[in-house]
Amino acid sequence: MPPARTAGDDLAIEVRDLVKTFRRPRRKEGRLGALRTLMTREYETVRAVDGVSFDVRRGEVVGYIGSNGAGKSTTIKMLTGVLEPTAGTVRVNGAAPTADRKENARRIGVVFGQKSQLWWDLPLVDSFRLIASLYSIADDRYRRNLARLDEVLGFAEFLHTPVRQLSLGQRMRGDLAASMLHDPEVLYLDEPTIGLDVHSKERVVGFVEAISGPGRTTVVLTTHDLADIERTCERVVLIDRGTVAFDGRVGDLKAACTPERVLTVDYEPRDGGAPPAFSAGRAMGPAVVSAAAPGRVSLRMPSAHSVVPTVLEAVERECRIMDLSISETSLESVVRQLIPEGRRSS
Ligand SMILES: Nc1ncnc2c1ncn2[C@@H]1O[C@H](COP(=O)(O)OP(=O)(O)O)[C@@H](O)[C@H]1O
Ligand SMILES: [Mg+2]
Repeated sequence: MPPARTAGDDLAIEVRDLVKTFRRPRRKEGRLGALRTLMTREYETVRAVDGVSFDVRRGEVVGYIGSNGAGKSTTIKMLTGVLEPTAGTVRVNGAAPTADRKENARRIGVVFGQKSQLWWDLPLVDSFRLIASLYSIADDRYRRNLARLDEVLGFAEFLHTPVRQLSLGQRMRGDLAASMLHDPEVLYLDEPTIGLDVHSKERVVGFVEAISGPGRTTVVLTTHDLADIERTCERVVLIDRGTVAFDGRVGDLKAACTPERVLTVDYEPRDGGAPPAFSAGRAMGPAVVSAAAPGRVSLRMPSAHSVVPTVLEAVERECRIMDLSISETSLESVVRQLIPEGRRSS
């Protein structure tokens, strides 16, 4: 008879009441603030993660989203075992990540968008070989995995280029491949699309699609860009100021909010005319100015396509439109609607 399954068997990750606090010098206001901070040595406690609980099932792809400073990276660092929790528990594959670091490292992969794990001065392939030897990956498995990953990520053409000569998008493709060479059960991607152009973002999305699915890699993907997760994740956990503000399906998150789009216009003043008086909060037909800088204005508007001509006309009355782009419902708009002002992270 097969052994009895326990409730947690199909859970890759269990997080309960997780807390992480940091102590940092209290910042002083005003001129000489930095100097006063140094002299008084007063500290304040930052609750970067403040009582977070969630589970991730095996094979699930979860988007862990939130504004900058919400606590995403701190959570990932506790999940990967880089940081010890201040309170609460983390279990990955049934054990605390810090309990057996070697075993943990064998079973997880991680990519930090802002910090490459590749050897800067070496050709990409040398990093792959070093990783293969660190993880004792047998030759045939290494070659098989490399070929499979190349099909998805397409790095063959720059395999022998030193990492420091790669573009950001190429480097990210290298980092993603490096994280999967040892077939981890759980993969953490912390802002893998940060700074990438549209084409490179597509590659990341394609990669997540290729490695995930029932019985395959469990993925936790953090981002502050809602568009990244719409195609890759069924489920999102929205974190704000270290606490979970929403945990559910992406569709339900969007349904809970009025869909909005953001129109960004690059403009020039009309010949001989005064520069337009765009300022944040100004209503322009069905839209509201959300950001204004000389030559560029962004407007929040209902997502219905029918409003676009009206908004464009209102803008065009005051300036010459040189270029424009429309972004789909932004994370900022979701956060603005779900989380009361004064409770939001930066
Ligand atoms: N090592 C640290 N020391 C002090 N404060 C930190 C440290 N790491 C993160 N923080 C603070 O914790 C909060 C959450 O940071 P982080 O987890 O990096 O957010 P996110 O990844 O969502 O942008 C921020 O206010 C940040 O300044
Ligand atoms: Mg971060």
